Amino acid sequence: MQLSQVISLFLRPPRGGAGAIYDLLGTNNHLGEQSLYLNMGYWAGVDTYDDACQALARRLGEAAQLSTSDEVLDAGFGFGDQDIFWMENFQPRRICGLNPSPKQAAHAQKRVADRGLSDRIQLRVGSATEIPHAAGSFDKVISLEAAFHFVTRERFFQEAYRVLRPGGRMAIADMMPLEGRPFRAVERIGDYIGRRIWQIPQVNMYGRTPYMEKLRAAGFTSLEWRSIRDVVYAPFARYASQRLNDPAVVARMDPLMRAYWRASTANERAYDPFDYAIVTAEKPR
Ligand SMILES: C[S@@+](CC[C@H](N)C(=O)[O-])C[C@H]1O[C@@H](n2cnc3c(N)ncnc32)[C@H](O)[C@@H]1O
Repeated sequence: MQLSQVISLFLRPPRGGAGAIYDLLGTNNHLGEQSLYLNMGYWAGVDTYDDACQALARRLGEAAQLSTSDEVLDAGFGFGDQDIFWMENFQPRRICGLNPSPKQAAHAQKRVADRGLSDRIQLRVGSATEIPHAAGSFDKVISLEAAFHFVTRERFFQEAYRVLRPGGRMAIADMMPLEGRPFRAVERIGDYIGRRIWQIPQVNMYGRTPYMEKLRAAGFTSLEWRSIRDVVYAPFARYASQRLNDPAVVARMDPLMRAYWRASTANERAYDPFDYAIVTAEKPR
């Protein structure tokens, strides 16, 4: 990763999604021990990044009520860890995934094939905002820490509703501004820089009430919101600031990326203006 590439991302507002930054990240810049997860984890009763990420995937699978008869769409699959985990632990009939990063998709496809799961897990390059499946193709739509990237999240809600069968369910683990907690001036600057690098459009920066309104406007009912911010941000920041000194991470992580992570996790209060929620919604029968 070169400074020039990061600057070029910074100057280029997101269009079709955040594939470019994830292509650039490659397979060296994660915090995992064994896995390639790229989320902030669910830090209740766990000590390692892999376990925290897996715990978040498990919570989301439970929130989606994944079952053996389900055909599932996964929007934003990273390197596919979550899909392998869901398949091995919830055994849905089929998982189809979309991700705009060709490098992540190729890597994830190989991992799925190596485990002999290619007939049950199909991961492809594509965007959650233009889902290439017919209406009513899925029982569940699931998205693990990706929807804040989508251009736009609202468009994804409409697409998710379209591809769900009547009675289908959506479960999302997502980040958003914390309602009733305006950004301070200095936080606004940090937020702007972070969003430009991570390709997060301004249009997705809204809190709980507009979030739920947009789900309702897309047609969803039975909405539920569970904030898990206390078991995500602060413990993630504490873990990451230690993990960045681990010789294995120092050896493989790009120095620019390590500097970025160091700066952004040095102060856990930096996450004060953000909520983190597991949101569920249903398409009426
Ligand atoms: C923070 S990572 C999370 C990856 C994975 N869910 C995990 O937990 O390890 C966000 C993911 O969203 C994907 N993404 C970004 N824009 C997208 C879009 N428009 N449609 C589908 N996925 C997208 C990125 O390529 C990346 O894989």
